[in-house]
Amino acid sequence: MSGTTIETTRRRLARLPSLAGPLWPFDTEATPTEPHSLFLDWLGFAIDAGLREPHAMTLSSVDAEGQPDARILILKDVDAAGWCFASDAQSPKGRQLAANPRVALTFYWPRLGQQVRVRGTASPAPRQRSAADFLARSATARAIASLGRQSRPLEHIGALAAPYEVALRQQQHEPAPVSDSWTLYVVAASSVEFWQGRNDRRHVRLRYERSDGHWRKQLLWP
Ligand SMILES: Cc1cc2nc3c(=O)[nH]c(=O)nc-3n(C[C@H](O)[C@H](O)[C@H](O)COP(=O)(O)O)c2cc1C
Repeated sequence: MSGTTIETTRRRLARLPSLAGPLWPFDTEATPTEPHSLFLDWLGFAIDAGLREPHAMTLSSVDAEGQPDARILILKDVDAAGWCFASDAQSPKGRQLAANPRVALTFYWPRLGQQVRVRGTASPAPRQRSAADFLARSATARAIASLGRQSRPLEHIGALAAPYEVALRQQQHEPAPVSDSWTLYVVAASSVEFWQGRNDRRHVRLRYERSDGHWRKQLLWP
C-alpha cells in the first residue's frame, strides 16, 4: 500500500465519530446484585430500541498453542446459569473449547455506547437442549449445520451445492434428523463488566466478579 493511501485511510478513520450518542446515564447505585439481571435489562433496552442484531457477540477462545481466536456468534439465551450459544462441536471453536473451556464474550451496542464483557467457562448443555436448539432452526440453517465440516477447506464454491441439496431434502422431512455434533454451550461467568460510554469520556464501568459463590461489584477507572 502506498504512503498516500495509508495517510488517506488514517485521516478518514480519524474523522469518524465514535460514541456519538445521545448516551444514557448509567446509575451504578441502582444495579442488581447479580450481573445476568443487569445484562437482561441492557439487552432488553437494546432490543426495544430497535438495534440491529443486539444478540450478535464475539466469542473469544484459545487454541492448543495458546493462540487467541475470536468470531461472531448469536446469543441463544441468558439466565442465572449463564450465556448460551450454539455451534458445531467439531468446528475449530468446538475443539478449542473441548481442550480449554475458558472463554470471553463481548457485546457492543454502538447506538447506546454500551459494551459488556463476560469471562467464564463454557460447557456443553445436556444433549436434549442441543437437539431442541437444532430443531428450532430454519430448514436451511439445519441443512448447513447438519453438513458439519465447518471451517474446513472448500475445494471450489460449487462444491457445496450438491451436499447442501441432499441435506436440505433430509431436513424437510418430518421428523428432521438431528445433528449429533450441533451443541448448545453455556458460559458460566466468573466476571461480567458493564461499560457505558459518556460524551465527556468519563465512561462508567462496573465489574461483577464471582468469588466463594457470591458476586462482588467494583467500579473501574475509564
Ligand atoms: C452475525 C453472525 C452470526 C453468526 N452466528 C453463528 C452461530 O450462532 N453459530 C456458529 O457456529 N457460527 C456463527 N457465525 C459464524 C462464525 O462467526 C464462524 O465463522 C464459524 O462459527 C466458524 O468459526 P470457527 O472456525 O472459529 O469454529 C456467525 C457469523 C456472523 C457474522
